[in-house]
Amino acid sequence: MNDAEKQAYLAKYKEKKASGELFFPHSIGKDAVVSLFIFIVLISLATFAGVPAEPPANPSDSSYVPRPEWYFLWMFQLLKYFPGKLEGVAIMGLGLLIAVGLFGLPFFDRSARRHPRNRPVASLAMIAIVLVIVALSIQAVVTTPPQAEALVVTGSDEAKIAAGEKLFIEYCAVCHGEVGEGAEIEGQPGEFTNPLNDQDFLTTHTDDNIFNVIDYGWDSLGMPPFGLRYGGALTDPDSRAVVAFIRSWYVVEDETGAENLAQVETPSFNQHVKPIFDKRCASCHGRRAKGGYSVETYEQTMTSGDNAPVIIAGDAANSILVQMLRGISTPAGGQMPPGRPLSADQINLIERWINQGAQNN
Ligand code: HEC
Ligand code: HEC
Repeated sequence: MNDAEKQAYLAKYKEKKASGELFFPHSIGKDAVVSLFIFIVLISLATFAGVPAEPPANPSDSSYVPRPEWYFLWMFQLLKYFPGKLEGVAIMGLGLLIAVGLFGLPFFDRSARRHPRNRPVASLAMIAIVLVIVALSIQAVVTTPPQAEALVVTGSDEAKIAAGEKLFIEYCAVCHGEVGEGAEIEGQPGEFTNPLNDQDFLTTHTDDNIFNVIDYGWDSLGMPPFGLRYGGALTDPDSRAVVAFIRSWYVVEDETGAENLAQVETPSFNQHVKPIFDKRCASCHGRRAKGGYSVETYEQTMTSGDNAPVIIAGDAANSILVQMLRGISTPAGGQMPPGRPLSADQINLIERWINQGAQNN
């Protein structure tokens, strides 16, 4: 600043001081008007535009993607460029740098001119900083995965089961069949999954067991993870709906009104035996016959099996099938159905039917 400029500046200063505006009420008044204006804008925005509410916090939903508020997003994004331990260094280092920079500003920027155009370095630096902040914020928004849809399933059990069925058919049926009966595993020709609709499977697995398999998958056996947090497509409520659908296959055995099997002296294949096979064996010995054995039709029941015949008409004691039902180990395998034997009444009934000639009656 040369002398002429200095003089001009001082003259202006004197003049202003003489005509003067007082801090109170002039400045305060202006501030009040501006504050009031901003206040009104905020209230109008809150009233008419509103804030989109996220679903209520749900501690069991670990698929939620937490993100800072928008004005912190740039910092959040910035930290992604400092992996691992560098993150801490970056937080402290950058903060310190900025603080020191601001304190030092009066010392290294000694120009008396105030106008931004007269301070190119400071102005350009500030513009660069703002641009970087905007760019980082945009980048953070773009790379944030979409928040899981708010609960697909909130309604009744039926709604949940229906939602689960859709998802099951979309994601699971390729490897598990449309009703969980089992199917050839995608990518592993000749290999089949165990039926999920099997009563034994359902009684020995809790909802949480099943949920965890869906969520985390079973990599070693060829089942991919489906949980959002493991890179899959299903949110927790989605997976719960699928579990509800699988659970709906469980048939609660209805003892009331059922015929007392012990009192049936001449059992009928179609009336007594076939229903037991359908319910307890067909999941493994149906279309996909384990051990080569199928109970789909009378003929198959009598003749199929790797160790056929498994039923010797008139001789239950030597029939492999009966031995297996009783848990006697045979060359064809162990207990049938695996894990949860038939009731004594059911086994005795099948035995009577075989001893009486194993007819298609
Ligand atoms: C790419 C094929 C594949 C897909 C798709 C798949 N699974 Fe599986 N799943 C498997 C395999 C393989 C196993 C290992 C056990 C077996 O052979 O049954 C398995 C096991 C399971 C088990 C545990 C069974 C047990 O005997 O303990 C459950 C429950 C299950 N899957 C549910 C699902 C559900 C629900 C879906 C859809 C969201 C699904 N799976 C999609 C291949 C698949
Ligand atoms: C969870 C699946 C499953 C269920 C349910 C099941 N089985 Fe089996 N079964 C098998 C498998 C697997 C084999 C092959 C042998 C083995 O691995 O033990 C087999 C083998 C057999 C065989 C020997 C076939 C042969 O010729 O080698 C007979 C007979 C048999 N099962 C009867 C039954 C009957 C009867 C029921 C129902 C009361 C039943 N199974 C229920 C899985 C099942």
